[in-house]
Amino acid sequence: MAQDRHRIILDCDPGQDDAIAILLALGSPDEIELLAITTVAGNVPLRLTELNARKILELAGRADIPVYKGCHRPLVEPLETAEYVHGETGLNGVDLPEPRMKLTEGHAVDAIIEIVMAAPAATITLCPTGPLTNIAMALLKEPELAARVKDIVLMGGAIGLGNVTPAAEFNIYVDPHAARVVFESGVPITMLGLDVTHQALVNRPRLEAIRALGTPVASAAAGLVDFFNRFDSDRYEVDGAPLHDPCVIAQLIDPTIFKGKPCHVAIETEGGSKGRTNVDWFPREQRVANATVINEMDADRFFALLTERLARL
Ligand code: BDR
Ligand code: CA
Repeated sequence: MAQDRHRIILDCDPGQDDAIAILLALGSPDEIELLAITTVAGNVPLRLTELNARKILELAGRADIPVYKGCHRPLVEPLETAEYVHGETGLNGVDLPEPRMKLTEGHAVDAIIEIVMAAPAATITLCPTGPLTNIAMALLKEPELAARVKDIVLMGGAIGLGNVTPAAEFNIYVDPHAARVVFESGVPITMLGLDVTHQALVNRPRLEAIRALGTPVASAAAGLVDFFNRFDSDRYEVDGAPLHDPCVIAQLIDPTIFKGKPCHVAIETEGGSKGRTNVDWFPREQRVANATVINEMDADRFFALLTERLARL
């Protein structure tokens, strides 16, 4: 089993749901080898996303995993954060101690390049769950990177409606120019957008199942999700918020939970639909597919997996 593990770099902006994605990866060592966490500005500013990544690793007793600090703002646009969803720390809902582990020296963009280029070709998966700034910068800095990476499995975009504007999902909206670089890179992409993550709703029974595990990690996870639930449950008038980012890790652990198909995805970078992912679902444009777009999941199986893996930490 060990030789089939996905070797991943998780590029994230924690964020409660990014934090749960980290924990799901750590709870799944048979399927996932987490090589490094690279952090980017997104849900909250960079000084908090890198701090939060270290807090979550220490919570799980995994201070051995390197955390790198990445880009502090998008390529072109000014940074727009989302404290209105995640709270001012990004991890509101739980009070975690200041981490003792240090950041690893070096920039996240260089770390991505060094890890991928040092590994055998097509063995490293990049897992972005925030704006795509670090990934785009790495692709721009190292021309061989795109041919060397195995694939990119990302949370972002939507076939349908956005969540920041009617057109755009947050991660793509914040850095649409980076998203365009990534989607035009030629790297095989799996896109988990709002169409599928809005099926991963943390309703009361699912939340209580996590809380009932009773461990420090599970209690913290429940606190994070409970806070995260408030904003989206009200906004979408649903029973529980979509747990976006852990879908990326779950798709690697058990792709049979998800369904989708190869499509061409074009990124809007300007105007009122800035950040929109134009998904050619019913191929009308005769363009070569550049992503497998996921649109369906079995949410019960996803939450059963997540709960079981959190129980291991
Ligand atoms: C995405 O944006 C952030 O709020 C979440 O962490 C997730 O990555 C959802 O649009
Ligand atoms: Ca995120």
